[in-house]
Amino acid sequence: MSYDPQFEEPQSHTGTWIATVVLIVGFILGLLIFPPLYEAPKSDASSAVLFVGRFHPILLHLPIGALIFLVVLEFASITRRGEMKFGPAALLALFVGAAGSVVAVLAGIMLSREGGYAGGNFSLHQTMGIIGTAGVLLSLVVRLTAMGQRNWELLQAYKALFFVSFGIMSLGAHFGGNLSHGSTFLVKHAPDVIKEPMVKVEKWFLALVEKPKPAATPVVAPEIAPVPKEPQVIDPKIATSGPVPKAAVPPVTPPPTPSMPNPVPTPPIPAPAADDKFVFQHVILPIFEAKCNKCHGEEKQKGELRLDTFEWTMKGGENSADKNIVPGKPDESVTFQLISSPEDDSEHMPPEGKDQLTAEETALIKWWIEQGASSTLKVSDARFPAELKAVVDGLVKG
Ligand code: HEC
Repeated sequence: MSYDPQFEEPQSHTGTWIATVVLIVGFILGLLIFPPLYEAPKSDASSAVLFVGRFHPILLHLPIGALIFLVVLEFASITRRGEMKFGPAALLALFVGAAGSVVAVLAGIMLSREGGYAGGNFSLHQTMGIIGTAGVLLSLVVRLTAMGQRNWELLQAYKALFFVSFGIMSLGAHFGGNLSHGSTFLVKHAPDVIKEPMVKVEKWFLALVEKPKPAATPVVAPEIAPVPKEPQVIDPKIATSGPVPKAAVPPVTPPPTPSMPNPVPTPPIPAPAADDKFVFQHVILPIFEAKCNKCHGEEKQKGELRLDTFEWTMKGGENSADKNIVPGKPDESVTFQLISSPEDDSEHMPPEGKDQLTAEETALIKWWIEQGASSTLKVSDARFPAELKAVVDGLVKG
C-alpha cells in the first residue's frame, strides 16, 4: 500500500542498496576475522590492531550522534506527510548510524585484544553492541525496502525494529561506560528514587552473565603434610612459635632467641637464580604492572596514585597519602583494603569488570605488607608461604 499517492516519481535507492550490502558484508567479514572473545586473548595482537582498537572510544560517538538524531527524525516522520518530508533524511541518518556502529564494534573488538577485559560489564557491552549493530543493519534493509515499495506497514515494522535495536545498543553502551568509568559513575549523584531501580536493573543484567563468585576467597593452603620447621629462622618476628617437632631439630643448632639473633643469616632455601631478585621489584611490582598500572602508572594516575615504583607506591595518592602501604599492617594499608573488599563494592580495586587479582596475588601483597613492605628483601631470603611459592616462581620468571 502506497503512503504517498501524490508522489509519482519512482524512488530508486540503488546507491544506498549497494552501500548497505557492502556494509553488511564488511560487518560479517570483520566479525569472522576478529571473532568476539569472552576471555583473555590467547596470542598477542599486532600493533596495527591495537592501534586501531584505541580509536574505539572516539569512533563510538559518531553512531551515538547519528542514531539519536535518527530518533528525532523518526518522530518527525510519524505521519505520512512527515515521512515524505523527513524520510530521506532519516534514511541518511540511519545509514551513517549503521556504518558508524559497524566501525565502532570492530574497533572495540580490536581494543579488547589488549587483554584485561573480562567480567559482566564487558560481556554485556560486547554482546549488546554486536546485537544492536546487527539490528540497526537489519533496520536499514527494512527501511530501504519499505521506501522502495512505498509500503507503510513495513515502515511501521521498521520503526519497531529500529527502536528495539537502539534500546539494546544504548544498554550495551552503558555497560561500556561502566568499563571505563566504573559501575557507580552514572548513578553516583542520582537521587535514591532513580538510583535504586537503576542499580537493581543493572545487577539483574550482570547476574545473567556473571558466574557466581566464590565467597570471600581466602587462600586455602593445599593439603600438605606438616613440614618440620626449619631451624635456621633468624628473624624472631617471622619465626612463629609453633611447636617444633623435637626429632626434626638437629641438636647442634640452638633455637633462636629474640635477645640473641643469629647474626649470620644462612639463606634458608638456596635459590641461586633468584639471588639478585628483590621481592618488591620482581614479585609485587609485576602484579601492579599487570593489574593496576593502566590506571596507576606513568600515563594515568587515577586517584593521583602511582604504583610503578617503590617510592610512588609508598607515597600513596589523593586519599591514601602515607597510608597506601603501612608496613606490617595490611588492614591499615589503603591498597590492601581496596583489593580485599568485595568486587561489587564501589571502591574495590581493580574496578568491577576489570581484570581482577587472583586470590594468590592478593595474598602475596598482604604477605609482603605483613613482612614490613621492604624494597630490599631478596627473593632468595624471603620465606614465602608454601601455597604461594608456585605463583612467586611464575612472577619471578616473568
Ligand atoms: C581501570 C582503572 C583502574 C585499575 C585497573 C585500578 N584502579 Fe585503582 N583507582 C582507579 C580510580 C578511577 C581510582 C579513583 C577512585 C576515586 O577517586 O573515587 C582509583 C583509586 C585507587 C586507590 C585510592 C587512591 C587514593 O589515594 O585515593 C588505590 C589505593 C588503588 N586505586 C589501588 C589500585 C590497585 C592496587 C590496583 C590493582 C590491583 C588498581 N587500583 C587498579 C582506577 C583503577
